[in-house]
Amino acid sequence: MEIKALQDLTSADYEVLVVNIFEGEKTNQELINKFAIEVDNFKGKFGETYLLHTLGQEKFNKILVVGMGKREDFCICKIGDIVSKCIKKLQGIYAKSACFDFSIDADYGKSGAIAVGIANYYFDKYKSIKSPRVENVYFVKCSQEAIDEGLIFANAMTFARDLANDSAAVVTPENLAQAAYRIEGIETRVYDKKEIEELGMGAFLAVGKGSSQEPKLIHLKYSPENPKKRIAIIGKGITFDAGGLDLKPPASMLTMRDDMSGAACVLAVMNAISELKPEIEVNAIIAACENMPGCSAYKPGDILTAKNGKTIEVDNTDAEGRLTLADALCFAEELGVDEIIDIATLTGACVVALGTTVSGIMGNNDDLVKTLIETGKLSGEKFWQLPMYDEYFDSIKSQIADMKNTGSRQGGASIAGVFLKEFVTDKVKWAHLDIAGTAFLEKPYKEFVQGATGVGVRTLLNYICK
Ligand code: BES
Ligand code: MG
Ligand code: ZN
Repeated sequence: MEIKALQDLTSADYEVLVVNIFEGEKTNQELINKFAIEVDNFKGKFGETYLLHTLGQEKFNKILVVGMGKREDFCICKIGDIVSKCIKKLQGIYAKSACFDFSIDADYGKSGAIAVGIANYYFDKYKSIKSPRVENVYFVKCSQEAIDEGLIFANAMTFARDLANDSAAVVTPENLAQAAYRIEGIETRVYDKKEIEELGMGAFLAVGKGSSQEPKLIHLKYSPENPKKRIAIIGKGITFDAGGLDLKPPASMLTMRDDMSGAACVLAVMNAISELKPEIEVNAIIAACENMPGCSAYKPGDILTAKNGKTIEVDNTDAEGRLTLADALCFAEELGVDEIIDIATLTGACVVALGTTVSGIMGNNDDLVKTLIETGKLSGEKFWQLPMYDEYFDSIKSQIADMKNTGSRQGGASIAGVFLKEFVTDKVKWAHLDIAGTAFLEKPYKEFVQGATGVGVRTLLNYICK
């Protein structure tokens, strides 16, 4: 996929010209004004398209008109949706090249390129017949610089989506570690089982015990000279969540290869920042393992000791993500960073509360949470803050340990939040993103195909590179 800035319509060859129209207005193309608007009464409502053949009168053989709705209702934040819709339409007519000439007063290169990437994404590596993609895209009145930044974002999303979509037989903890090593311009250190033991990560280690795959603790570090601040991003990296001995029923287990979507997101972010080169230090941490019910599996009733010395009574082996995150949070704080953001497919309760288009967010610092919500809005990703009142701790009080790992299912996303809070101190700003509902779609939504969405990549990148 290539995207290039064009000075004017004539400086390249392409099959389809894409132009926009505001509802009730005309375009700069006479053919459109005459046929689409006058003859066929095309209105230009938001997202509506109209396809016209140029019958040899122009160098391009078709014009695609897309409606932007009423001019007064338009916001540049909608341009991504528009571009994605056009790409889907272009795929439908098997067009391989197109030029977008939008008459709007903004450089839409970045959001445009991201949108092309989203709509051009198919997980078809295992299919004999590949999905049609638009290979060459041109944007008029955009800077190549903005386009290139968008392409880095788009490639990062594709990277994250490919990892999360692939089968758990391929994407193992070891495979995630290899993916981390392949990222250039970044220091990578992978700790094996013995080293994880030495680090005292008793909660993380317990989760991996039922699997034949060894756990890996993956730490990537991007460090520019004189960083303005130092942050850590942690991604939940359960490469398959069978539930452990508290085995999931088949329907819930079916898509649990996506339980490393947080890890895929942070790897994608590190990949992109090695090119975007922000002025802050970024540490990415993944406690990667499988949650399986093998004969050495950890058991309900087990008492685990996390890296910070706190003890946890296991009341459900399927609440494993928070156990791995607990140790990862301690590890991150010991690095002495200013901020920690974790991203995790953590709770079914979050899916029940917010659905599949909005992610949950919690944290110990309202400014950080608010900034991430705002950054999300600008990035096309929605986050909604969930409460972390002390009462949520009541159900994870234990008679025999400092806490239980699961407690009640009611308010489950918040309970997970207050559990995690036990593993960060007030000295560090921390936010937790629950993407259980948004990471993996069971049916297509907007221009996202079924499967992994790469959620979090755009927000974290914009947050880090702002
Ligand atoms: N990985 C799941 C959460 C999840 C659910 C992700 C649905 C994506 C879609 C997590 O490890 C889990 O199993 N959570 C349990 C917790 C329960 C035992 C308290 C859940 O949500 O059912
Ligand atoms: Mg689970
Ligand atoms: Zn899980």
